[in-house]
Amino acid sequence: MGSTDYAKELAAKKSLDFIEDGMVVGLGTGSTATRFIKLLGERVKRGLKIRAIASSNTSKELAESLSIPVIDFQRCPEIDVAIDGADEIAPGLALIKGGGGALLHEKIVASASRRFIVIADSSKVVTRLGKVPLPVEVIPAASPLVARKLVQMGIRSTIRRLNTGSDFITEEGNLILDCDCGEIQDADTLAASIRNIVGVVEHGLFLHMAERALVSDGADVKTLFK
Ligand code: A5P
Repeated sequence: MGSTDYAKELAAKKSLDFIEDGMVVGLGTGSTATRFIKLLGERVKRGLKIRAIASSNTSKELAESLSIPVIDFQRCPEIDVAIDGADEIAPGLALIKGGGGALLHEKIVASASRRFIVIADSSKVVTRLGKVPLPVEVIPAASPLVARKLVQMGIRSTIRRLNTGSDFITEEGNLILDCDCGEIQDADTLAASIRNIVGVVEHGLFLHMAERALVSDGADVKTLFK
């Protein structure tokens, strides 16, 4: 296992401390969340009684393959704790998420959770958000409008594509615009401005949501608070 992978594993392992019998657990998406789901599966095999709500079909399928009981969010909209990765973690636990394209359901799961805990390797920690593109999920018909409005805000965007060249389509049938925002000076204002554009479904700024981040450099795990 490479050092980054090992760091993700350590962070994922630490997050198990927050899982107790009887909980409804929100499952994130991405390589770090995948490690958490696998570790959770081992605990379930050893007798842990939890139910899970997944933030993507990929995470749902993985959980089910590990015999983790996955329930429907429509039937149980309250989650005790959600564990998910992040693309960037800035001071105040301001996050960019959505590198895997699951930002809408990840945000729903995180918002529905009493506790939202981020797990990551230390390369994700930044002093200011914006080195990675900010994903924005948009209704396909509105994507030219949204792209134009973003340009008016000084933000260039590109439609996310698969390696095959076809558009990346989210689980809700939408497109992702990856936005080059540069260094983000005021994430709250940016989030509100993007949210105001007609056709935007959701953006990857997760602000004032995470309770803590468990971050590992491969040696130990540090806890970052707001
Ligand atoms: C998925 O849409 C993302 O929000 C992921 O949580 C994020 O990209 C982190 O992914 P890794 O854990 O693979 O770095």
